[in-house]
Amino acid sequence: MDIYKIDTYAKSLIKEAAHNIKASLTSELIIESKSEANDLVTNIDKETEQFFIEHIKADFPEHRIFGEEGFGDDIKDLAGYVWLLDPIDGTTNFIHQKHNFAISLGIYKDGVGILGYIYNVMEDTLLSGSLNGGAYLNDQRLPMLLPTTVEEAVVGINARWVVPNRHVHHEGMVNLLKTVRGTRSLGSAAIEISYVVTGRLDAYMSMRLSPWDVAGGMVLAKEVGAVVTNLAFEHLDLLGADSFIVSKPGLHDQLLSEYIKLKQNPAR
Ligand code: IPD
Ligand code: CA
Ligand code: CA
Repeated sequence: MDIYKIDTYAKSLIKEAAHNIKASLTSELIIESKSEANDLVTNIDKETEQFFIEHIKADFPEHRIFGEEGFGDDIKDLAGYVWLLDPIDGTTNFIHQKHNFAISLGIYKDGVGILGYIYNVMEDTLLSGSLNGGAYLNDQRLPMLLPTTVEEAVVGINARWVVPNRHVHHEGMVNLLKTVRGTRSLGSAAIEISYVVTGRLDAYMSMRLSPWDVAGGMVLAKEVGAVVTNLAFEHLDLLGADSFIVSKPGLHDQLLSEYIKLKQNPAR
């Protein structure tokens, strides 16, 4: 299968889906909550996932789709071609701000990430990359990331991990906050990963993310030399939820060995 053909196809689907999402901004959203009140989904999340699935199934019938809203396949392994899709990452932002949300897509072949995309819909920027082919912001090739230190780092982190919680020793996180140059929280894992890839953030971490949040970003991160693991310093589980950290080289080791002490991996 020609990877360039899939790449061109995926980019055109993403652009069309983004166009449809933007066009929907003036109509009233149907908002539902899923597992919890802060776990939201809209009719546009669902329609966008269905749009991708209809096209992929028609044009690449042997490919499987692992999508957040559950319209794709029942994925228990990553054999063959699997598209890991979050139709809208940052749904709360989509609803509340109409800003800072993204289409996140990773295409994997036998468990190896071959293509990755993060499309920041309102910013109209496409981050794309392919295995050993580099990462691009629109048409501009991104440089390799340089190492940095905790003291000079701006880190993406959600404030909830800095108060007592059952997943991570908060004292280490407080210490981290006191040491870093700054912290940011954008509300879209995919955009936060894209910020590390483009050098706007030095690291981003979360206690619990799903495969579709990170699959595209992981392909891109690798292409600029960023390090990705879960917070137990292991390879990520792309079949279920896992903790997550992406960061510049060097910083990754320092963050995990000196500051982030897991009580338990929340996803296990
Ligand atoms: C969420 C966002 C958010 C992250 C959550 C994700 P969604 O995805 O990426 O930033 O903290 O864990 O579930 O629900 O907006 O697709
Ligand atoms: Ca998501
Ligand atoms: Ca989503």
